[in-house]
Amino acid sequence: MKKYKVLICLLVSAALWQACADDESEQPKPQPAVYDATAYELNYYGLPAPNLPADNQLTKQSVQLGKMLFYEPMLSRNGVQTCATCHSQPSSFSDTAKFSIGVEGLPGKRQSMAIFNMAWHTNQFFWDGRADLLRDQVLMPIQDPLEMNETLENVVAKLSGTQLYRDQFMRAFGTEDVNPERISLALEQFILTIISANSKYDKYKAGLAELSESELRGLELFEAEYNPFFPEFSGADCQHCHGGPNFENDLYMNNGLDIEADFLDFGRENATENPADRAKFKVPSLRNIAVTPPYMHDGRFATLEEVVDHYNEGIHPSPTIDQALLATAETGLFLTTEDKTDLINFLKTLTDETYLENPEYASPF
Ligand code: HEC
Ligand code: HEC
Repeated sequence: MKKYKVLICLLVSAALWQACADDESEQPKPQPAVYDATAYELNYYGLPAPNLPADNQLTKQSVQLGKMLFYEPMLSRNGVQTCATCHSQPSSFSDTAKFSIGVEGLPGKRQSMAIFNMAWHTNQFFWDGRADLLRDQVLMPIQDPLEMNETLENVVAKLSGTQLYRDQFMRAFGTEDVNPERISLALEQFILTIISANSKYDKYKAGLAELSESELRGLELFEAEYNPFFPEFSGADCQHCHGGPNFENDLYMNNGLDIEADFLDFGRENATENPADRAKFKVPSLRNIAVTPPYMHDGRFATLEEVVDHYNEGIHPSPTIDQALLATAETGLFLTTEDKTDLINFLKTLTDETYLENPEYASPF
């Protein structure tokens, strides 16, 4: 009887072992990667049609490659930093540090910028606009000694050393060849797909949500012009610069942060070499502004309250300041405590949780 049991046990184990072995041999063999030009469908909600480059049509596989690269530590010299280190999704693809720390442990010179709705930015990139196109911009942080500090040659060598990337370059471009141009085009594609247009404010515009009394008053203050003859009864005129569907105007301006003697960063003048552009910076979008502290190109303000106080009573005149702001420099905007609260409550309606949590933009690894 005992012998019989042992035999059964042996038979069962053998059968199990065989089943496992069969399982292994039945695993699907890795399919060779093939080129796939399926278009990527953009969802841009109620925004006007985006301005997409005709010579870099969005495809699912190139966008996927761009996303992999955005989250790829091999792009940096120390093999740790990625684009997302300084552009993190919960912070609207910006950085909470005043100055982001590069791979050599040294701080950069400016605050990281939020990345979304770049397809609607038609006038260059960076705080000073020194990059013409996104495809030019994306290769710069890789080589910047204060950022990822890596050579393109090394990046190409590291990526082409992996089957994962050789396959993805094949799917995206039709051959396994890894080169800087392809890296830049794929990163451009991924960045172009990052869209935020589903905030409470957007839902309100679409008739799908209501704004509170305070938020509506804030919106009114945001839009209403400042009248130097009746300053107490006029608005804050933020939309003068932060206007349109993306709350920016594609221009570089001086918003009165410093007097001339205190300029530490010449901003736009670095890119244009025109002294008339001194201390002018990109007018940033105010979408998702509540989640992107600190504020301004040098991260000098920690809170939206400090920002509003700046516009209300801290404008410093200088030769290149915007004329509308100059008009408020002496008197201020006369915003009451309630006005300021309302204005900030309105700014908070521009936060878009759908975008901040969208898995399409999250790390693929
Ligand atoms: C060490 C931090 C850091 C890393 C890493 C980094 N960035 Fe940035 N990024 C910044 C800072 C700071 C700015 C603003 C710099 C300036 O204006 O001089 C910026 C600006 C940008 C802008 C301009 C946005 C606009 O509105 O003009 C884009 C796009 C961007 N980065 C994409 C990337 C990509 C893609 C990568 C990875 C290849 C990357 N960044 C890596 C810190 C970083
Ligand atoms: C004359 C144009 C102009 C007006 C008017 C204006 N801004 Fe700005 N705003 C700018 C510019 C330019 C910057 C970037 C300046 C810099 O970093 O050097 C900026 C930056 C900001 C930032 C920080 C953005 C970031 O990503 O760090 C906030 C918040 C802001 N403005 C809110 C407002 C509010 C609220 C009002 C109305 C009370 C207003 N702005 C009026 C031009 C303007």
